[in-house]
Amino acid sequence: MSTAVHTPTVAATRAELAAVLEQRDGDVVLVPTMGALHEGHASLVRRARERAGTDGSVVVSIFVNPLQFGPGEDLDRYPRTFDADLDVCGREGADVVFAPAVDEVYPDGVPTADATDRVTVDPGSLASQLEGAIRPGHFRGVLTVVAKLFGLVRPDAAIFGEKDYQQLVLIRRLVADLCYSGRRGPLEIIGAPTDRESDGLARSSRNRYLDDEERFRAAALSRVLYAARTDAEYGPTAALTAARAELRSATGVDLDYLEIRAADLSELPAEVPPGTRARALIAARVGGIRLIDNVALTLGVPATGGDN
Ligand code: PAF
Repeated sequence: MSTAVHTPTVAATRAELAAVLEQRDGDVVLVPTMGALHEGHASLVRRARERAGTDGSVVVSIFVNPLQFGPGEDLDRYPRTFDADLDVCGREGADVVFAPAVDEVYPDGVPTADATDRVTVDPGSLASQLEGAIRPGHFRGVLTVVAKLFGLVRPDAAIFGEKDYQQLVLIRRLVADLCYSGRRGPLEIIGAPTDRESDGLARSSRNRYLDDEERFRAAALSRVLYAARTDAEYGPTAALTAARAELRSATGVDLDYLEIRAADLSELPAEVPPGTRARALIAARVGGIRLIDNVALTLGVPATGGDN
C-alpha cells in the first residue's frame, strides 16, 4: 500500500469538476464508487493510479445512487463514511474526488423506476436475470448513473470490480452499444479481480453489517464457488453439482441464486468445448444481509486456480 500523504481535490458540483479537470493533461481514469471504501476499493484506486501514470488523473466518484435501490432496500442505511473515504483516496493517490449531492446528479429529481417522462438507460434483457430478477430496475439505475458519470468526467478509462460481475458485463455493453469514448480515444473498461478476506469472503461495503456468527457463515459463499471451479473440468453440470453439494453443508445461508453462465453471462449448453470461459455466480442472504460473489471458471480443462 502506498503511504505517501496526498490530499485529493474535492469537487461537489458539475462546475467544480469541469474546472479541475480542465487544468489536467493526460488520461483521466475514473473509479466510480458509492463510498464506504474498503481495501477492495483501495486496490481499484491503486490500479487507476498505475493506468493514469504520472501525467494522467485519477478521479474517484463517491455517490450513493438512489436510482439503483429498490423499495425496501438499504438506501437509507447504506454506510456513508466520507472522511474515511477521502483518506483512502488520498493514500492511494487519487487526484480528484467527485462527491455530488443527489440534486447535482438528478437536477430534475430522481426518476421513478417506471418514469416515462425522463431518459434513463434501458439495460436490455440480461438486466432482468440473476441480480435483476431479484432487484428489478437495479441495472437501469446503475447504467443511468454510470452514463451520467461518463458524461460528466469523460474518462479515458474506468475501473470496476469483478465482484459485481453482471454490472461489469452490462457496463461493457453500455460502452460498446452506445459508442462511448474518452477524451483522447476509446473508453477502456477495466475489470479488476475481486479482493478477498483470508477465508475467501469477497470484500464488500455490506460486510460491516455481519455479526461475528454471520461473518463466519458468509465464507461459505466463496467455498461454494471454489467447489464449482474444482469440478469445472467435467463441464458445467458437474461444476454446478459440486457447488450445490458444498452449499448443502453451509448453515445460515439463504440462497437467492447459484448459476454457471458463460463469461458474457449467456446461458450455457450442457456440453461445451474444452477451454470455454465461464462464471460461477452466487447471491445469498446471511442473517438478512444480501451478499453476492462470483469466480471465473475454465470448463473442460483441469483447474489451475483463477484470477479471483
Ligand atoms: O458498484 C458500485 O459501487 C455502483 O453500482 C456504481 C458502479 C458506483 C454505480 O452507482
